[in-house]
Amino acid sequence: MTTTNNNIANEVRVPTRYDVFTRGVHWLAAGIISYTMIAGYSLQFLVDTIYFDFFSVLNMSLGTLVIPLTVVRYLWKFFRPSVPYPVDLSRPKINMAHLAHEMFYLVIFIMLISGVLMLTHGFTFFWLIDVPHPLDNPDVNAFFFEVHRVACAAVALTLMLHVAAVVKHQVMDRRNILGRML
Ligand code: HEM
Ligand code: HEM
Repeated sequence: MTTTNNNIANEVRVPTRYDVFTRGVHWLAAGIISYTMIAGYSLQFLVDTIYFDFFSVLNMSLGTLVIPLTVVRYLWKFFRPSVPYPVDLSRPKINMAHLAHEMFYLVIFIMLISGVLMLTHGFTFFWLIDVPHPLDNPDVNAFFFEVHRVACAAVALTLMLHVAAVVKHQVMDRRNILGRML
């Protein structure tokens, strides 16, 4: 009986980091969103140059790619193996982390949806597939451009807080939170 219990205990290992899919998509999306953000703000310096169209199509294509990635990764949250937080992290702090991550997803979704709805003309996804613009009303497009700008600023701010929170855990509290995503 004891041997059987030991075998079960050996087999049911509690994970200390997220599964490979969660980690892979986190860093892929982090890379694409960071690049698209920097390039999006830099585009204003390229207006009226021969480079604008290229970097604009690249940005819209990368942004569009992030849409299915974010939907799938958000849904996967409800099915993946759960990774317990360090025992010394209090319940209110864990709840705050969950709330912060949900808010992060919310502003990312608003940024993605508003990006699509602000389009005044279609574009060719990675120069391969024609994507039409879903809304053909310049006033409504202009409204969603404003929403896109606010959402981009909110994502940039949330990202800074996100990185600051990880650094605080690692350096000041000496908790290996980063290891959960590596
Ligand atoms: C644009 C860039 C980034 C985005 C959009 C992003 C987004 C997110 C989201 C939404 C989560 C929650 C994961 C989930 O429960 O599904 C998360 C977790 C995490 N992120 Fe990021 N992240 C970014 C960059 C970074 C960077 C640069 C670091 C490292 C400093 C980092 C470290 C982590 C860690 C360690 C977790 C796990 C936290 C935990 O287990 O509670 N992220 N990230
Ligand atoms: C990873 C997700 C995205 C990020 C980080 C991002 C970021 C940005 C930023 C920072 C700007 C400049 C805003 C400003 O001037 O205040 C911008 C503009 C713009 N975004 Fe996005 N965006 C994303 C997704 C999308 C999507 C999915 C679309 C549509 C398919 C889109 C279409 C546009 C357009 C049309 C502009 C105006 C500049 C241009 O013509 O390229 N964005 N974006």
